[in-house]
Amino acid sequence: MSKQIQTKRVGSPLSPTTLVQARDLSKHYHRGQEQVEALSGVSFELETGRFAFVVGPSGSGKSTLLHLLGGIDRPTSGSLIVNGVSLAQAKEAALATFRRDNIGFIFQFYNLLPALNAEENVALPLLARGLSRRAALERARQLLDQVGLADRRQHKPAQLSGGEQQRVAIARAVVGEPSLVLADEPTGDLDKTAAQAIMALMLDLNQRLSTTFLVATHNEALCSLGDQTWALQNGRLVS
Ligand SMILES: Nc1ncnc2c1ncn2[C@@H]1O[C@H](COP(=O)(O)OP(=O)(O)O)[C@@H](O)[C@H]1O
Ligand SMILES: [Mg+2]
Repeated sequence: MSKQIQTKRVGSPLSPTTLVQARDLSKHYHRGQEQVEALSGVSFELETGRFAFVVGPSGSGKSTLLHLLGGIDRPTSGSLIVNGVSLAQAKEAALATFRRDNIGFIFQFYNLLPALNAEENVALPLLARGLSRRAALERARQLLDQVGLADRRQHKPAQLSGGEQQRVAIARAVVGEPSLVLADEPTGDLDKTAAQAIMALMLDLNQRLSTTFLVATHNEALCSLGDQTWALQNGRLVS
């Protein structure tokens, strides 16, 4: 489905459409004397181009899983390969490069930089990759058009509604053509109408750009919109 992924993954033992392979993934945290098993024995595969959900109640390990997949954090044990990169053993510098080149993040509270306007926020991932400011801003404007914010380019986050801020964050997440977009409760702070519009936008981008999405939510009703759902309970996958 994606040429870029196939060429990058030459020599990989995985099938060309396997984007994520998680095997017996565990993540343990220490809270004082107590050990918290945020994830235990999680195994799954995600194929390129999918729109998938990870669902579960608060505290079930959804954010932890997204952090591992995005190279923000490393598993305590198990193996994790994303787009041909083995993340479990990767050094911090390799994880940073992996994140920059492969991952787009969407957060519940948007996490836009308040001092920058919409197009500057969207351009950031391209500037981080060394694109010129002019080229990055031009591409950012194209993405803002695609998410329906052509008339909000110069607005700062505080001048935008929650739904508009999340559109900017979505444009920022996909502008660098990442192999995987990770969205952590992306509609959790929005009213029903805005939430539906944000889901529709992500589904549309998944179709149009062939970008793979993994969306974490506690809202089981959303899962019917995707191709695939994994349910977490107390850090374990349940069917
Ligand atoms: N940095 C951390 N230190 C200690 N415990 C953590 C940390 N992050 C998450 N946890 C614990 O791990 C479990 C899973 O958390 P999380 O992945 O945030 O769940 P969810 O996103 O499904 O609400 C919870 O019990 C949480 O308290
Ligand atoms: Mg969470």
